[in-house]
Amino acid sequence: MSVKSRRSLLLVSGALLAVAAVAVPVVVNTASADPASANQPRIVGGNKASLDDHPYAVYLADTGGNQYCGAVIVSSTAVATAAHCAKAVAKQDVRVVAGREDKRTNDGQVLSVSKIWISKGYNDPTQGNDIAVLTVRGQLDYRPAKLPDSGDPSVYREGTQATVLGWGRVADGGDRSDYLRSAQVPVIGDKDCNSDYDVYDPKTMVCAGYADGGVDACQGDSGGPLVVGDTLIGLVSFGDGCGKAGKPGVYTRVSAYVDDIQQQANPRLLG
Ligand code: ARG
Repeated sequence: MSVKSRRSLLLVSGALLAVAAVAVPVVVNTASADPASANQPRIVGGNKASLDDHPYAVYLADTGGNQYCGAVIVSSTAVATAAHCAKAVAKQDVRVVAGREDKRTNDGQVLSVSKIWISKGYNDPTQGNDIAVLTVRGQLDYRPAKLPDSGDPSVYREGTQATVLGWGRVADGGDRSDYLRSAQVPVIGDKDCNSDYDVYDPKTMVCAGYADGGVDACQGDSGGPLVVGDTLIGLVSFGDGCGKAGKPGVYTRVSAYVDDIQQQANPRLLG
């Protein structure tokens, strides 16, 4: 596939997902046009996860209660997510659902959104800057994730084991998960990721996954956390299919946005 057509494939599937995610709970798999995705996986190597271990993992729903993205608590009043998630639903229709492992329950809290900040330079996921911060009305009752120390790149070292969390799809063409799930994926070095994706930008993105695929985030997981311990290093952004060999998950590189996140998360610290 040419660079151009691969790129437009990513773009088109992103746009379709944004729309489909809002309209129906089961998203059309735009990647299924690709024969290689016929043996595309379950979300791919994950397990049920507990909010006891990851209380900062939250999801975004529309007013009908349909989960369409993940997000992560960064302060008592703010969550970080992907910019493409923040743009998928009108601000007044976004609900942040915290403290709810199982979507079928009424556990935890549901908060509306008073403000959306979207990163400067965001256009679409494949061009980077796929990050937004939503300020909620009221207070989040759950512990925030830690932000990376921009002076310490060690959490991004190749091979570092990270954990991705989400309520996204568990099978190719199948339903999204009702439960929070997590999977362990190693950070991939910039060189390798660049050979997997021409559009890879090491300043604003980071890749994680296995060369052989099989473990990955998938549709519906976007905006959700990639953590090392409790430190947020990435946000699910895009990928070519899910869990395909040579096509790891691409995440927003959170360390590039720590100042922005902090400003949005703790507005009273501003002069
Ligand atoms: N863009 C997708 C979403 O909106 C996330 C895709 C992540 N894909 C992957 N292979 N890691 O939910």
